[in-house]
Amino acid sequence: MHHILVTGGAGFIGSHLIRLLVNKYPDYHIVNLDLLTYAGNLENLTDVEHKDNYTFVKGDIVDDKFLDELFAKYNFDGVIHLAAESHVDRSIEDPMSFIKTNIIGTVNLLNAARKAWGDYEGKRFYHVSTDEVYGTLGETGFFTEETSYDPRSPYSSSKASSDHLVRAYHHTYGMPIVVSNCSNNYGPYQFPEKLLPLFIHNIKNKKALPVYGDGKYTRDWLWVEDHAIAIDKIYHEGRNGETYNIGGNNEWKNIDLIHALCEIMDDLLDRDEGSSAELITYVKDRPGHDRRYAIDASKLMNELGWEPTIKSTEGLRKTAEWYLENSEWLENVTSGAYQKYYLKQYGSEV
Ligand code: NAD
Ligand code: TYD
Repeated sequence: MHHILVTGGAGFIGSHLIRLLVNKYPDYHIVNLDLLTYAGNLENLTDVEHKDNYTFVKGDIVDDKFLDELFAKYNFDGVIHLAAESHVDRSIEDPMSFIKTNIIGTVNLLNAARKAWGDYEGKRFYHVSTDEVYGTLGETGFFTEETSYDPRSPYSSSKASSDHLVRAYHHTYGMPIVVSNCSNNYGPYQFPEKLLPLFIHNIKNKKALPVYGDGKYTRDWLWVEDHAIAIDKIYHEGRNGETYNIGGNNEWKNIDLIHALCEIMDDLLDRDEGSSAELITYVKDRPGHDRRYAIDASKLMNELGWEPTIKSTEGLRKTAEWYLENSEWLENVTSGAYQKYYLKQYGSEV
């Protein structure tokens, strides 16, 4: 049996990945290690939690002794590492929690794998990262795998640091690794502090839509299930030691994306045309706000035959519909109701 440790599997992208792996590979054993921070919810995984090939473990990647015990208990063949503090605005308020989880947590995982894995035969450590490590683009151009690192927020700096450490364990200790750097994801189960779920929630409740700065910041949006498909492909077929960029070839200026969302929401909520857009409110900019991200994913497309399956307006509508249909989920994550329930249920045991 092939045992994979997925970290951060109760979060947004991790839950989509867990669902894909558990359903696609009944012969694998998938262990989901997650601390269940404000961003992690087992409610994201109710459809797979009873499957025989799935195990949830609550724990902290910052706790190195706990990780050693976990690696001793399960004979992992691979690690797919997603656990992280992931929100740029929070990293501006509290950089240290990003340093702890994203940097120290990653080193702890690398050390636990290194101790447990001996000669590394048949092993693989896959580190999931972000395009934000490359810094910011001007009006033109794309990030490639050769673009120099130039992180500019505490979040992206902590992710850049962890990317370097993963590559250092490859070069220094011979650990088999692969890294991917992905653009902004969107879709179901994203914590409503991020742009799209926050704005869907606010439109529904007729609250202001806080657009940072002039709203002309550009992001390349990828449907989250397409990211999970890419991770699966890279884990199985990516070349040892390589990096793959993942992106949707789907650039939007924030304000254009917001207007497109507003039109969809008017329609879905059966409100007057233009009423959602009236909620748009320009607010003070995010400090150090990166102007534009855009990914050149041709290496992944040409080598591994991956391409995005969902086009943006279709994905935007599916996203809006999902949050409207799952308003209880949204209420529970924003009130912390799930955390209270699951933390009581799981306590702090391995
Ligand atoms: P998320 O914030 O939704 O989920 C993070 C998960 O990690 C949560 O379940 C949380 O409980 C868990 N976690 C946090 N600290 C932990 C710790 N100390 N120990 C164990 N678990 C812990 O994040 P996401 O958006 O799903 O992102 C997942 C990964 O993908 C991150 O590494 C992020 O940097 C990367 N990424 C995200 C995006 C995006 O658009 N969201 C894009 C590219 C890359
Ligand atoms: P976000 O979802 O936080 O992702 P990231 O900063 O990692 O790209 O934000 C996406 C874009 O939307 C980014 O340019 C910041 C902007 N934004 C707003 O204008 N208002 C908001 O309330 C939020 C959360 C984001």
